[in-house]
Amino acid sequence: MPGSIALERRGDVALLRLDNPPVNGLSFAMRAALGERMVEVLADDSVAAVVVCGAGRMFCGGADIREFSAPPPPGAAHLPAILDDVEASPKPVVAAIHGVAAGGGMELALACHMRLAAPGTRLGLPEVTLGILPGAGGTQRMPRLIGVEAALDVIVGGKLHPVEKAVALGFADERVEGDLEETAVARARDLAASGAPLRRASQLTEHLEAARGRPEIFDEFRKKMAKRARGFDAPYACVDCVETALTLPYPEALKNERTVFQRLRASDQSAAQRHAFFAEREVAKIPDVPKDTPARPVASAAVVGCGTMGGGIAMSLANAGLPVTVLESSQEALDRGLATVRKNYAATVSKGRLSQAEMDARLARITPTLDYADLGAADIAVEAVFEEMPLKKEVFARLDRVCKPDAVLATNTSTLDVDAIAAATSRPEQVVGTHFFSPANVMRLMENVRGAHTSPETIATVMKLSKTLGKIGVLVGVCDGFVGNRMLYAYRRQADFLLEEGALPPQIDRVVYDFGMPMGPYQMNDLTGLDVSWRVRKAQAATRPAHLRYSPIADRVCEMGRYGQKTGAGWYRYEPGSRTPIPDPVIDQLIAGVSAELGIERRAVSDDEIVPRLFYPLVNEGAKILDEGLALRASDIDVIWMHGYGFPRYRGGPMFWADLVGLRTIYDTMSRLHDEHGEWLEPAPLLKRLADQGKGFADWAK
Ligand SMILES: NC(=O)c1ccc[n+]([C@@H]2O[C@H](COP(=O)([O-])OP(=O)(O)OC[C@H]3O[C@@H](n4cnc5c(N)ncnc54)[C@H](O)[C@@H]3O)[C@@H](O)[C@H]2O)c1
Repeated sequence: MPGSIALERRGDVALLRLDNPPVNGLSFAMRAALGERMVEVLADDSVAAVVVCGAGRMFCGGADIREFSAPPPPGAAHLPAILDDVEASPKPVVAAIHGVAAGGGMELALACHMRLAAPGTRLGLPEVTLGILPGAGGTQRMPRLIGVEAALDVIVGGKLHPVEKAVALGFADERVEGDLEETAVARARDLAASGAPLRRASQLTEHLEAARGRPEIFDEFRKKMAKRARGFDAPYACVDCVETALTLPYPEALKNERTVFQRLRASDQSAAQRHAFFAEREVAKIPDVPKDTPARPVASAAVVGCGTMGGGIAMSLANAGLPVTVLESSQEALDRGLATVRKNYAATVSKGRLSQAEMDARLARITPTLDYADLGAADIAVEAVFEEMPLKKEVFARLDRVCKPDAVLATNTSTLDVDAIAAATSRPEQVVGTHFFSPANVMRLMENVRGAHTSPETIATVMKLSKTLGKIGVLVGVCDGFVGNRMLYAYRRQADFLLEEGALPPQIDRVVYDFGMPMGPYQMNDLTGLDVSWRVRKAQAATRPAHLRYSPIADRVCEMGRYGQKTGAGWYRYEPGSRTPIPDPVIDQLIAGVSAELGIERRAVSDDEIVPRLFYPLVNEGAKILDEGLALRASDIDVIWMHGYGFPRYRGGPMFWADLVGLRTIYDTMSRLHDEHGEWLEPAPLLKRLADQGKGFADWAK
């Protein structure tokens, strides 16, 4: 019966089968059932040994995350205690693992006396990725089984490992080729018959003794993980708990692990990381594009333009095993583009992350051409030429003529109107935006842009393509900057105004970095280049509404020929060959000059006002985007910001973060800022509505 644990008999061996689709999650009910079944088999004299296994796709995917948000019901079964009973069983207990053993499922296996796993099984402790730690003995049994350093890697890494790796490290005992359950039954029977002492992970001491002489392991590990774990609580809590394997007696270490687990589970960080986990799954749901909408099969692709983005997009397609034909406007541009692709692959090979053979195979999938006729067979064409509307239209008209009738035509434009581009073709329903982020072969986000005429099939096709490429596709609507960049403009604009009012780039960059972003707006701008947006601003100058505040600072920096790292100077200066930003008095003077010119008396800007001033307007823009129907849900915006801009996952994305801050607070601050600084900061109507109703973005549904 689903949601239970079946007891099957194989002679004198009792088989306990977890049955709780889809992942045999250890819900409260399942834990209670496990405890009861253990009591039952221990009391039954005809049972000599026990095998624990899973029904359906896997052994056990772990705790039921949805149960985390509420406190456990009164009298709820306590997993650590149940697992202690499993381990203490005088009758051998063998785990027969297939599919996946993750989190609490892995901890259950660790409490067994032997772990057998089928080929293809993946095992691990991914709790850290949800902002928690293995809270049912995992931080204690794992180091005793495989050693402190390996356990730190497994627990803090949070990955699922193939069975071969688990066996090599020692947290699985054997990879079983034949009938897994039969083998497990036989091993359990042998263990019972031999009468040999059972191997209980909590009692193993050898690895701990080996580590005892080297207490520096932990600090070294903390140092090693510092960059990746910046801002996150859970990885540090994991290390602390593993350390107690050496410093506390087992029962106390277990108690401590529980206390820390409960603290983390109740934390905003874990709530944010769980939100992120669900948000990433939610993006696939599009109300008018149901799951069964037929996606066109994509077996080959074309890319037009092999510059920064086109090259990365071609790599991404080739990496996923798709043959790609790449078209450029001249032989020289084609050679240059492919040379960059080759150089990028070679860099990965030299870092040991790709084999030469794999690089050759991927390159072999990329076919360069100058002839549109060669694109005729592609199932999808992705355009990534210069950001100029007449050029895009010309390219799409040509693609429309040469591509087969059912091919999807996609544009990587970041600012232009997808509908206007679609109008250049005879098949606007097959035209869509696929907005990749730079570097396109690395960044996981794709904003898939739905035009006025884009068909459900076309949307289904690009959403599926995102998955095929190992990316996360988020469906957005047509507007200037789409979702991500439109919100970025709102944030960046306020940063420039703060410069006029008294701040300097290093202060803003430091505060934004400390908030958890990978870098502040000015370091980011130096990295991506100042000239592109300058060109856009110049083109828009004539139509800019005169009453809106406009900061000329960035234009002035560009006028000095300072385009960022590529010219050795931008908002900072750079020593030759170095990417380290050095604050530059020239910029300080330039900014002070602009303030004087605008009649703004410079003041000391406090660190505390920077986060609200930059991020509340960003959230405010998100609210407008939701109201305008350009994103399906607030959590989609969170996914865009976590995967496209490095918004810290432990804050769950800007909209989730805003809910934590409280929309009342954000609305009130926006209203005050609006009074002080004018139109750009006008609170969004949705923000006001939700604040008035005491609701959050999570409650919003169109
Ligand atoms: N750079 C980014 O971070 C970024 C991010 C997202 C989207 N985009 C968008 O991607 C597109 C490309 O940007 P990019 O940064 O790769 O520009 P880029 O200048 O690096 O590359 C453009 C390429 O298009 C080629 N090209 C120009 N006209 C062509 C034609 N008629 N036929 C074939 N090829 C032609 C050029 O030779 C050049 O190699 C733009 O629409 C841009 O807005 C850029």
